[in-house]
Amino acid sequence: MDMTPLAARSLAGLLEQMTGQQLANARRWRIETALQPVMRKHNISSLDMLAGLASQPGSQLREDVVEALLNHETSFYRDLPVFKAIGDEALPVMAEARAKARRLRIWSAGCSTGQEAYSLAFLFANQKGRWDDWQIDIIGTDVSPPAVTQARNGTYSQFEVQRGLPIGDLIARFDQEGDDWRIRSMLKARTNFMVHNLLDPPPAGRFDIILCRNVLLYFSAERRRAVLDRLASAIQPDGMLILGAGETVLGQTDAFVPDMELRGIYRPKVSS
Ligand SMILES: C[S@@+](CC[C@H](N)C(=O)[O-])C[C@H]1O[C@@H](n2cnc3c(N)ncnc32)[C@H](O)[C@@H]1O
Repeated sequence: MDMTPLAARSLAGLLEQMTGQQLANARRWRIETALQPVMRKHNISSLDMLAGLASQPGSQLREDVVEALLNHETSFYRDLPVFKAIGDEALPVMAEARAKARRLRIWSAGCSTGQEAYSLAFLFANQKGRWDDWQIDIIGTDVSPPAVTQARNGTYSQFEVQRGLPIGDLIARFDQEGDDWRIRSMLKARTNFMVHNLLDPPPAGRFDIILCRNVLLYFSAERRRAVLDRLASAIQPDGMLILGAGETVLGQTDAFVPDMELRGIYRPKVSS
């Protein structure tokens, strides 16, 4: 199937306008493959025609195109050392800081199908007894309605639970349902998922910990800075920001600085 450069530019432009995600030239090959199911569903025979129709605001077709071009790659405990550091180093510090209120609000921003938020819930559940009388709220958000629906359902295929999930967590935290695995309701009580676009103002209230991992990688520098500045306005003054492996705030924004003791943790910059 041939796609004119104009159609490629228009579809990549649509994705960036709606989500901030840029499709680098090297990744544009994905457009054709990713959009074939959308073309079949809407009975459209060429990518040029699809690009024209998708440019009209508010249509299901436009939503389907954006959804097809998003990258939802994720897994339980993705980058395991990060979760180990959260459990062993960051949470003890937060436990001390919030010992009086006994409440933690955590935001998994760009949570995809929920594995990141549930991995956090497993961390709390696995630190036996320690968090029993705490209120732990883990809020997962994503721009993609289908990803949020799956996160809310908490149902995963055999393939999905085989990626990164220790067998102990599978047995203790899931019930088998046919070929799939469903998160137990006790863990669902600590998690809440909603559709949210990082280009919009953040959810209400301040968060103690924000994870925004593997989301801002393909934003323009300008948009990345704007989102990081927004995250700074949504975090507690002593809160913690965690980015993806290989992502940094250095040179991106002045709103966060690396924590000198906790590796991979950024703190909002206290204005003097
Ligand atoms: C590659 S996944 C990463 C998921 C998870 N954070 C992780 O590291 O495993 C990126 C997610 O960010 C979401 N996303 C992209 N642009 C977004 C935006 N503007 N607002 C909210 N979510 C966005 C995508 O839909 C996708 O599910």
